[in-house]
Amino acid sequence: MKLTEIVCSFYILALIAVNAAAAVAPWEAANPIAPLPQSPLGIDAKLTELKDPPTPERVRLGRWLFYDKRLSSDGTISCASCHRPENAFSEPTPHSTGVRGQQGGRKAPSVINQAWTILPVFFWDGRADSLEAQALGPVANPIEMGNTHEGMIQNLQKTKSYRTYFKEAFGSEEIGKERIAKAIADYERTRMSGNSPWDRWKNGDEKAVSEEVKKGDALFFFGKASCNQCHLGPNFADSQFHNLGIGWDPKKKAFADEGRSKISKDPKDLGAFKTPTLRDISKHAPFMHDGSMKTLEEVVQHYNKGGNLNPSLSPKIHPLRLTKLDVKYLVKFMEALQGEGYQDASPAAFPE
Ligand code: HEC
Ligand code: HEC
Repeated sequence: MKLTEIVCSFYILALIAVNAAAAVAPWEAANPIAPLPQSPLGIDAKLTELKDPPTPERVRLGRWLFYDKRLSSDGTISCASCHRPENAFSEPTPHSTGVRGQQGGRKAPSVINQAWTILPVFFWDGRADSLEAQALGPVANPIEMGNTHEGMIQNLQKTKSYRTYFKEAFGSEEIGKERIAKAIADYERTRMSGNSPWDRWKNGDEKAVSEEVKKGDALFFFGKASCNQCHLGPNFADSQFHNLGIGWDPKKKAFADEGRSKISKDPKDLGAFKTPTLRDISKHAPFMHDGSMKTLEEVVQHYNKGGNLNPSLSPKIHPLRLTKLDVKYLVKFMEALQGEGYQDASPAAFPE
């Protein structure tokens, strides 16, 4: 071989090596590190002002984990199977279907705008006190993801590259359940919804909504309906538990699901559930903790008739005497809460 040939082949080999090092793994290309999102109009708080703010590296890792079916026992279910981005991270069915087709008893709630809740209460009955505490629940729930925390960790350890991203996010390669929970919770925190037609109107754009929406707004906040006794703040949720009589069986004189009282052990909380956010509400019918109402009209009519009478009905619930038009205005108002900022889709590739 001539000297020039040797030099040439070295040069080519070196080029190949440099290219290989620079080539981005397909799963990295599918989920690059991105700056933290800005809060959309209507959400005044900022992610960077949180006590332990999310970092771009943790959010990237959390985004993979949220959509990765390998967290479940049989590789069929991810968080996103029940919290679907196209349904504002909720589900279009009354009950969730988990591993091996098993049905849970409650509707999957939307997980948007959970970075700022008035109080730290999660689940319909408030049994978790942080997104981190919440995130590990479904993995070990035999009906939901049917795995153990050890099983989940082993599945991730089997991959060659997940540990790289745990190092990137947390400083060392250890794959642990607290880290998994933190990363997922940080991804959830970035799913913010604002800049809805209603937010734009409230910030000075008179043309952003119709007259019907404005009438609905008046009913919702001050008028006959006064929905904002419970649906309040930027997220339209008071972090409290109320009984609207959903799931009450008047013949058996019992609730299908006892709700908050099982956790608080307070009989006053029988049949009470957490007030859900109304942001992007039209994206996630059916409604209520048991998914028993198909349309927003049906929900408003439930309030209009004064709920389902039962011994622990909230004192705030009583007949409202809304006209047919009032009901329509309230529905139009709720439809104007469709916002932006939370939209996402599963990354196309995961660490191998
Ligand atoms: C099989 C369906 C299913 C899967 C899988 C699932 N969830 Fe859920 N999720 C639910 C249901 C149902 C509830 C309500 C349960 C309750 O309140 O008792 C819920 C509640 C929540 C809440 C509470 C929201 C609120 O308003 O209080 C959060 C947050 C959440 N899930 C995140 C996750 C994360 C993170 C994962 C993945 C690790 C996950 N979920 C996997 C069905 C599911
Ligand atoms: C006493 C407090 C309270 C008042 C007043 C109230 N709500 Fe609610 N709202 C709740 C609670 C609690 C739930 C969940 C109940 C359940 O699932 O059992 C709920 C659920 C809803 C849902 C379904 C959300 C979902 O994700 O499934 C909608 C829509 C709704 N309310 C709209 C309204 C409107 C419109 C008004 C006024 C007419 C109103 N609410 C008044 C507490 C209240």
